[in-house]
Amino acid sequence: MGRWTKVEKGGADNFGKGQVSIQHNLNDSGFFTDDALADLIDRYPREFYMLNTMTKVGEEKVWRSGDKGDLSGKEIIKAIHDGQVWMCLRRFDVVAPEYHKLIDDSFEELEEGNPNLKTFKRESSLLISSPTARVFYHTDIPFICLWHLRGKKRVWLYDAENKTHLPDETLEGVILRETEEEVAYDAEWDKNAQSVLLEPGQALSWELNAPHRVDNVEGLNVSITTEFFTPEAQRKYGVYYTNGYMRRYMGMQPKSTNIDGLGAYAKCAAALGIKKLGLLKGKERKMMCSFTMDKNDLTKIVDIPANEQWEIKQA
Ligand SMILES: [Fe+2]
Repeated sequence: MGRWTKVEKGGADNFGKGQVSIQHNLNDSGFFTDDALADLIDRYPREFYMLNTMTKVGEEKVWRSGDKGDLSGKEIIKAIHDGQVWMCLRRFDVVAPEYHKLIDDSFEELEEGNPNLKTFKRESSLLISSPTARVFYHTDIPFICLWHLRGKKRVWLYDAENKTHLPDETLEGVILRETEEEVAYDAEWDKNAQSVLLEPGQALSWELNAPHRVDNVEGLNVSITTEFFTPEAQRKYGVYYTNGYMRRYMGMQPKSTNIDGLGAYAKCAAALGIKKLGLLKGKERKMMCSFTMDKNDLTKIVDIPANEQWEIKQA
């Protein structure tokens, strides 16, 4: 085992391609105790955290964004422990360099173990969530490595290549940031899904854009999610970005999702051009603040009426 990591299942060669399980020692850092987390929350600027609540199993799926108001880090931890809340502390690279370095060192180890692996644009966030919190079926744009630290959660993984589970047009919408990364889901698909129970000291990575959902199983859950790209992932992004633009704004029906060859490189160049020119500005989704918390009752979600909600700006 390296200082922080050991690839378990799937093989080091498969990291940045398919599903891989990794053992890790990140808890040895002491960065994830209640006290350390409370301190970290206290120093997080508004533009780098997200606070969410969601409906329970069996209820219609609703995901809401909120604000921690005047709660201290300690109170937030208690509110998460006792309630139905999910907090995401983003951009370690800007706010928490020591956490950023911990994950960077872990990635360096994984890359040392696999000379063909080249990852970049690594961005880590800390996820702290309630014992019964869940994350609905969605897909992420980059690769993900989920480093699990506390509590237990079950990750459901669906086939990235199945166009019924994830139609091209849907993935394009996610990549163009038109939607909240949430996509249509049918519980029937669970029959063909894989489910992995994550315990502290385990990490999991999976195929690029594979749809997934997460059910917390036990205890206050703490994980780090690291987004990363490989050269292939970046080409796929470029191809879907341009396909999405062609479908929506040029009345075309792009069929090829091939990420190799000249066509793919042309689409990647086009994607950069579209972004540079700001052609899609203003079409990206907005996150509205629909609740805050109550210092006197930490399990309470305080609703903000629709006409008083404000946009949560993220940097
Ligand atoms: Fe995800």
